[in-house]
Amino acid sequence: MNGTFELLICGGICVTPSGIGPADIGVINGRIAAIGSFAPANAAEVFEAKGLHVFPGVIDSQVHFREPGSEHKEDLESGSRAAVLGGVTTVFEMPNTNPPTITRLALEDKFARARGRMHCDYAFYAGATPENIGALGILEQMPGVAGVKAFLGSSTGSLLLNREEDILAALKAGRRRMAVHSEDEARLRERKSLAAEGDPRTHPFWRDVETARLSTERVLRLARLAGRRVHVLHVTTEEELPLLAEARDFATLETTPQHLTLAAPECYERLGTYAQMNPPIREARHREALWRAVNEGLVDVIGSDHAPHTREEKEKLYPGSPSGMPGVQTLVTILLDHVNAHRLSMERFADLTSAGAARIFDVAGKGRIACGYDADFTIVDMGAKKRIENRWIASKCGWTPFDGMMTTGWPVATIVRGQTIMRDGALVAGGCGQPVRFGETLPPSSA
Ligand code: DOR
Repeated sequence: MNGTFELLICGGICVTPSGIGPADIGVINGRIAAIGSFAPANAAEVFEAKGLHVFPGVIDSQVHFREPGSEHKEDLESGSRAAVLGGVTTVFEMPNTNPPTITRLALEDKFARARGRMHCDYAFYAGATPENIGALGILEQMPGVAGVKAFLGSSTGSLLLNREEDILAALKAGRRRMAVHSEDEARLRERKSLAAEGDPRTHPFWRDVETARLSTERVLRLARLAGRRVHVLHVTTEEELPLLAEARDFATLETTPQHLTLAAPECYERLGTYAQMNPPIREARHREALWRAVNEGLVDVIGSDHAPHTREEKEKLYPGSPSGMPGVQTLVTILLDHVNAHRLSMERFADLTSAGAARIFDVAGKGRIACGYDADFTIVDMGAKKRIENRWIASKCGWTPFDGMMTTGWPVATIVRGQTIMRDGALVAGGCGQPVRFGETLPPSSA
């Protein structure tokens, strides 16, 4: 290679599509220009990565950053700061804000708010409601939009699309992969009285396995009918997995680090309402089934479902307490700890946290370490051992369900399009995030 790299990542163990091994990575114009062996003299800036692993930048395809409307819990700046401190280079943000992101104006507002304030790259979902079905096909074509998200059962916020004819109409209204929160609203309403006051252990009984299974069965049937691709977010039950395995041609699925790590009833006994989320953390047999699905290749992505609520809110008496827990900052170290414990391979980690989201959402230029791709890297020290602590959490909520847990494997640098944003746990550059480019909606080039 002749010429000068703006950045050279030297001597790291790189996780590339052709294997895991030592390589230097040269960056020009924010993109990967060369992978091989290069003299540091060729570069304006050298990142010494000896002893470190270089992964493709982690894409968290499910976060709730609460802006506009609930900035006391999180905003686009604080949420993206938590992301990069945790090794995440790209986030897809959810539409259940206030007002919800269900119009062109609301999406434009989010993009305007994000500009110059977000530290990682970002995409926003458009929310589906019975009233905006006619607009969904247009909203999903806006550059930077990750696609449509529908809440088939109600959770945090007002978004809901539960009537069968509306779900089918929304599925027929567009072409891109549609993401769904899959819980059956009718069954949730029927069973609400099972949520016992003051007892969050009843959360997975109220929102039971059948609530999730029924909804997933229905949405798969409707998606098949409509000829539409769907992405089932945070799958939590053993019972949904065979249904999803039967629908591989059009359905993809996500699970979360918390569903792979925590289990009922222990998590509710230890954490109370801090373990409350939708769909719920369930007993260990589901966690083991999710692990099998991860390692057999059924699970496409792991997203954090970062859903911060303040301590004051979480300490309300169950079921008046809101559902959701933060996770964007802990996703990488929790999963690396599973890698170190041999529950997950490094290749699978890279696929689930980067290539998977790029593949299923058709992200342009991200998701792998390969020439021409964005120079997004999550650089980690696989041997670093530290305790996760609430005081490390950058989210405005200031807590994590993993407080006190020792994990081995920590991010030491977050690089977004060639720019080092986090180094050794500190934010070293800021506000450089840009909208994600999707193959299906590429904006016209100005060049
Ligand atoms: O537990 C949850 N919290 N599940 C969701 O689907 C929404 C999220 C939130 O926004 O708080």
